[in-house]
Amino acid sequence: MIIAHTLSELHSALGASSKRVFVPTMGNLHAGHLQLIRQAKALCQQPNELTVASIFVNRLQFAPHEDFDQYPRTFDNDCELLRATGCDVVFAPNETLMYPQAQTYTVHPPAELADLWEGHFRPGFFTGVCTVVMKLFHMVNPSTAIFGKKDFQQWKVLEQMVRQMAMPIEILGCPIERSKDGLALSSRNGYLSETQKLQALALQGQLRAVAQFVKAKERGFKAQSKLGMDALNANGWRVDYLAVCQQSDLQEVDLWGAEDLVILAAATLGSTRLIDNIEVQLTERTLTL
Ligand code: PAF
Repeated sequence: MIIAHTLSELHSALGASSKRVFVPTMGNLHAGHLQLIRQAKALCQQPNELTVASIFVNRLQFAPHEDFDQYPRTFDNDCELLRATGCDVVFAPNETLMYPQAQTYTVHPPAELADLWEGHFRPGFFTGVCTVVMKLFHMVNPSTAIFGKKDFQQWKVLEQMVRQMAMPIEILGCPIERSKDGLALSSRNGYLSETQKLQALALQGQLRAVAQFVKAKERGFKAQSKLGMDALNANGWRVDYLAVCQQSDLQEVDLWGAEDLVILAAATLGSTRLIDNIEVQLTERTLTL
């Protein structure tokens, strides 16, 4: 595995590869990231097809009050995990390479997709994500990029960016990796105490309850989501949102239409903000109308 810190190191590592499958990360890797690497490797069967990961904690996507400074940086361990999982190239730029001057040109995703849910509670987040991902795409020039579906909205926003900007990159989403208890794996889980890790299962529990309701009922999804939020708020959480949405445009719905749904949630436990979601496919609908 080659570790590239500069663009010339990156370009010589990429060489004349015919295909690059790219997994952008902010490091502090866990089993969820390694699943993305495995998915990437499965797409690279020929010797000149490369699995490439990047590690860069992107200041642009953190608000001033958020955890940029605190965000865990575990570079050596990350590289060990990537090597053991069979990654070919790790691109680890520093701030000066990524942002040699103030980044005054930025990529603003459309409000109707990016100013709701995460974008509403973290203004500027998706601009920061799109800007760094666009730059990483220019540097790595991948054929395919893979993102975790725990960040469902991020995956959708980036998929649309690539499509609308005519970037010749296939965007794939990888299913959420969970602990055996069901907690969605996240670098931020490291902020939780052992007791909070147990309490944190309630977020998935409420998502599941709403998913069961959605599979069985025709309408009333907003009221059911509100019950889920109230239950979490009554148990020490501060819920930002819990909503049943259409997968295509992430608009909240109160009843089944003709498409797959995703139930999105974000809530803070102690000082740790967690997000999670459950997809519900149209085929899982038990009601016959
Ligand atoms: O999902 C993440 O880890 C980050 O948002 C990403 C896509 C690597 C951009 O910094």
